[in-house]
Amino acid sequence: MFLQDSGSPLMEQLSFFHDHALLILVIITVLVGQLMFSLFFNKFSHRYLLEGQTIEVIWTVLPAVTLIFIALPSLRLIYILDEINNPVISVKSIGHQWYWSYEYSDFKNIEFDSYMIPINDMKPFNFRLLDVDNRMVIPFESQIRLLVTSTDVIHSWTIPALGVKIDATPGRLNQVSFSTNRSGLFFGQCSEICGANHSFMPIVMESISPKYFIKWISKMIEV
Ligand code: CUA
Repeated sequence: MFLQDSGSPLMEQLSFFHDHALLILVIITVLVGQLMFSLFFNKFSHRYLLEGQTIEVIWTVLPAVTLIFIALPSLRLIYILDEINNPVISVKSIGHQWYWSYEYSDFKNIEFDSYMIPINDMKPFNFRLLDVDNRMVIPFESQIRLLVTSTDVIHSWTIPALGVKIDATPGRLNQVSFSTNRSGLFFGQCSEICGANHSFMPIVMESISPKYFIKWISKMIEV
């Protein structure tokens, strides 16, 4: 019921679909609940009632129609999520046991590791188990292509607020595209059980204006 506020157009659509499905679910639950509740007080029994064609047609067709009302928006979402829309930059994220590393191959192949900040090294403004030493930086309101892979076992690059969740599989290169609505930090965690320190390879994405992104990338190239 309480999803994070969406940080991307994709997640906004996912939230709408979630609300739509939940509404149907509530209607069905109330209807069936009322029917079952009323059974307790029903004194009539129909020993010789064997069939009722009309009601049977109704209670077969209605659920089928209801399922179509869920399936069609769901299919629409699948295709929207798969769309690649002229990405401005490509970032490669590589899963390791147990940290992420990033490569910006559009810019002289900048690469860096992104480790969780250990509890003992935390600053007062850090989030426990959620902050990293080197963040992935991207320009906001721009289409980003994320390429995800792994070097050892299966990990999963997941940021709930963006509606992005993609497996990092050894020997495969998976692709997602997304854009952010605003500047700020987006947090996520690995969501594929990948070993002892699975819980300790968070993802932090810094969404900043394209102007500052250029500054950041120039600085990274100098180093
Ligand atoms: Cu990597 Cu769980």
